[in-house]
Amino acid sequence: ALRIAVLVSGTGSLLQALLDAEADHTLNATVVVVGADNDAAQGLGRAEQAGVPTFVHPFVKGGDRAAWDAEFTRQVAAHDVDLVVLAGFMKLVGPAFLGRFGGRTINTHPALLPSFPGMHGPRDALAHGVKITGTTVFEVDAGVDTGRILAQEAVPVLPDDSVESLHERIKVAERALLVRTVNELAHQGDS
Ligand code: GAR
Repeated sequence: ALRIAVLVSGTGSLLQALLDAEADHTLNATVVVVGADNDAAQGLGRAEQAGVPTFVHPFVKGGDRAAWDAEFTRQVAAHDVDLVVLAGFMKLVGPAFLGRFGGRTINTHPALLPSFPGMHGPRDALAHGVKITGTTVFEVDAGVDTGRILAQEAVPVLPDDSVESLHERIKVAERALLVRTVNELAHQGDS
């Protein structure tokens, strides 16, 4: 099975979907390490609960980006991973990371790219008044949410939606889409 590293910054519900699928034997992959850029990331506790090794490598504001990038890359590489999944990881990975893991790093986004890239996909979709938004799984490149699109799913915007209610509906679709996409990539790797 594919060895995957999952990188988190926040709640970690996408990570949980992967861990749950692994526990159910519906994931053709093993989460071998979970990394975070801050020690408050709740995803760390989820990983520990599942017995998955973790590391935290914070970026200090105003610090050396290249050094952060190099060390983060080293920590992931130490686990001999085939695929890296950004799961609510709120930092841009750097050139060292992409040099090592480019072409095998995927991210998810809570909008139908190329619409509403960036940090506020649900808020921006709501502000724009679209009636359909969704979620995208894509390959990470050096841009912000610009990489090759691997999978998408549409999600309706409902009349009374708040940013939170819309984001939560998107995240339900996003979790399933991520699990499905990881399985497809694992399957391609088998052939
Ligand atoms: C997800 O909706 C993910 O797409 C989004 O943050 C949420 C993380 O949820 N990421 C981005 O917007 C990245 N720019 P989680 O922490 O519960 O997995």
